[in-house]
Amino acid sequence: MRVQIDKACQLLKTGHVVSIPTETVYGLAAALNQQDAIDEIFKLKKRPANNPLIIHLPSAESVHDYALKIPSDFAKLAKAFWPGPLTMVLQVDPSKISEQVRAGLPTAAFRIPNHEIALKVIKKVGPIVMPSANLSGKPSATKAEHVENDFGKNFPVLDGGSCERGIESTIITFVDEKWQIVRLGSLTAEDLEVVLGYRPKVAVLQKGEQPLCPGQLFRHYAPKANLVLTDSAEKCSGTVLGYRDRKYANAKRIFILGSVEVPEEVAENLYAVLRQLDEENIASAHVDVKVPQDGLWRTILERIAKASNKK
Ligand code: TXA
Ligand code: MG
Repeated sequence: MRVQIDKACQLLKTGHVVSIPTETVYGLAAALNQQDAIDEIFKLKKRPANNPLIIHLPSAESVHDYALKIPSDFAKLAKAFWPGPLTMVLQVDPSKISEQVRAGLPTAAFRIPNHEIALKVIKKVGPIVMPSANLSGKPSATKAEHVENDFGKNFPVLDGGSCERGIESTIITFVDEKWQIVRLGSLTAEDLEVVLGYRPKVAVLQKGEQPLCPGQLFRHYAPKANLVLTDSAEKCSGTVLGYRDRKYANAKRIFILGSVEVPEEVAENLYAVLRQLDEENIASAHVDVKVPQDGLWRTILERIAKASNKK
């Protein structure tokens, strides 16, 4: 059910869950001070209790209401990338943020989304928690209809059209005096390097180790289709996920991800295309992965690899 902004704010203030758009993906929002609505988010998504939520703030200054320590370069990063697709994990005063939002950790994750509607809602309602608006194990929703497909036609959604970035925020945490990327996202390591003066390392999950980002532990979305990662256009046959500017001589059907020259466009379309494969009951598809390995492609390739992994 599509709702207008005033109705969405009223629902949030009175302890309900509403889906709202951000520049990355749609979020399933609850006010940070509405514990029942936060409980409801976990139920609706079927989200494990040990997976914490991101807190979306009205201003960088409001971090001081929660954080115990502000790591070096925090202000520089906030100035450069907020509002935007950067989430920073900080040590917090546990009495200020419910156990459930933090999933029992001594830290919490914060961001300011760069989306006019989301910003208006946060200004009116105050800080809100928002996981991506998908059932756990599905790709994040990048259109209002994706949210309705997962949560039903009567679920309140504030429709902001298609999310421009299309892939979740990049999550960073401060370890041994340096920022590290714990979830690849829309903001690249190269973008961060410009501000930090060093390229943040991407934390790799070691077997048996507690991950720096709990979400990395859980199974990620894989469509019913068997995705075959393929590094040449000629080898792509049958159903193909590819690029507008490439020829796929052996393809029967092509799902266009975008232009191979414009990774931003591919990021924007990726989840919608993955959802479409399931809607159309596609059994198998080749994905053209002959693309650069750096910048935003790194994030796109990581999401494609996860989508191809049935484990
Ligand atoms: O772009 C985004 O970040 C979207 C939009 C709606 O803002 N939100 C989003 O939320 O992707 P979600 O819940 O789907 O993913 C949040 C990730 C999870 O992997 C979670 O484990 C991690 O953030 N996270 C939350 N709090 C954390 C913390 N204190 N330390 C490390 N990771 C944390
Ligand atoms: Mg998610």
